[in-house]
Amino acid sequence: MTDTVTERADAEGLRGRIATELERTRARTALLTEVVDDGDLMRQHSPLMSPLVWDLAHVGNQEELWLVRDVGGREPVRRDIDDLYDAFKQPRGDRPSLPLLPPGEARAYLATVRDKVFDLLDRVAFDSGPLVADGFAFGMIVQHEQQHDETMLATHQLRSGPAVLQAPPPPEPAVRLAEEVLVPAGPFVMGTDADPWALDNERPAHRVELPAYVIDAAPVTNGAYREFIADGGYDEPRWWSEPGWRHRQQAGLSAPLHWRRDGDGWAYRRFGRWAAVRDDEPVVHVCFHEAQAYARWAGKRLPTEAEWEKAARWDPGTGRSRRYPWGDDEPTSAHANLGQRHLWPAPVGAYPAGASPLGVHQLIGDVWEWTATGFRGYPGFAAFPYREYSEVFFGDQYQVLRGGSFGTDRSACRGTFRNWDYPIRRQIFSGFRCARDATAEQAHR
Ligand SMILES: [Fe+2]
Repeated sequence: MTDTVTERADAEGLRGRIATELERTRARTALLTEVVDDGDLMRQHSPLMSPLVWDLAHVGNQEELWLVRDVGGREPVRRDIDDLYDAFKQPRGDRPSLPLLPPGEARAYLATVRDKVFDLLDRVAFDSGPLVADGFAFGMIVQHEQQHDETMLATHQLRSGPAVLQAPPPPEPAVRLAEEVLVPAGPFVMGTDADPWALDNERPAHRVELPAYVIDAAPVTNGAYREFIADGGYDEPRWWSEPGWRHRQQAGLSAPLHWRRDGDGWAYRRFGRWAAVRDDEPVVHVCFHEAQAYARWAGKRLPTEAEWEKAARWDPGTGRSRRYPWGDDEPTSAHANLGQRHLWPAPVGAYPAGASPLGVHQLIGDVWEWTATGFRGYPGFAAFPYREYSEVFFGDQYQVLRGGSFGTDRSACRGTFRNWDYPIRRQIFSGFRCARDATAEQAHR
């Protein structure tokens, strides 16, 4: 009897949490698509991006496919538009020429789907199968929409015209950081079995043994990156991998995306406003090849994905892996620069409460961090709920990025969360930190 009462209360609590997350997420989508006019929504601002109105209706279409049709077993709302909003069938470059739903129709479609989802949420039994256990399918849809919100934020960064987004600046530095942190040799648990909304590629939890290594206490800053530029780093093939140098030549790279010379210094365009590049902020809008070239120039290398995760999650006191660097609690505004609360990375040292037990800072939020690792399944990987979620992307054509950016929502960011992209991409909010092998002396300390 008591068990049933508790279970019922748990299910009601979960329903409430899901409803809050769905609404919070939709408010962000609305903000990103209501600050510009209809013409702007239909326009393609970069060949790399969809028109915002495509993302908008695609978010609704995925919600319809997964929740209304699959979980709910209901009749389709708009089967006729499935192909238009199928990311696999429609390459980004082609999306502006498709007969897309105009903004008003797209918004009405999203509202119809959402009504059905709330109706479904009232009735769903969370013990009726793996797709809905712990509300997983709802969590997947929340994360999917938040990921598109971050993509739409990147589109906003690429659009020309007057600035439309506003946010207060991130906090100022509160502590001075060490350059680097030594991570002792030994095993740690990578990935998760326990996080209910973790995606298939974050599973299963598995033991990884690493030798001692040293990792930067913070992401590489604009100031440090400027030294690489000033030292001729972009003109020196020896710092670049072979594909990296080829890309640097073909694309004419000479500085991060959105930078321009400004007298003796640099300026950086952030959502329609030019600002002087600030030396103590993490560098953002660099591709994997640039990150790798910088690391070689600095006498270091990029961390492997496992090194990044151990630095972020491993607690030397207990030997266990935390959900986040600071512990298992959900991120707050004191822990990390997440969720579009600010529109650029925070200066190094701004989030002492978010540091890992070893003293590694700003792993979560600020900038996605390129790692040296290609995107692959963990040992024992099982595709869920479908191969297209992750498995079709496995392989060395994609590099893993970790930690989320200022534009990533907390629902789509954990110590185990894995993002992947092509090594040439830099329209995303990507930066990096460096690592190196520990010296023999450090390793035996
Ligand atoms: Fe999508």
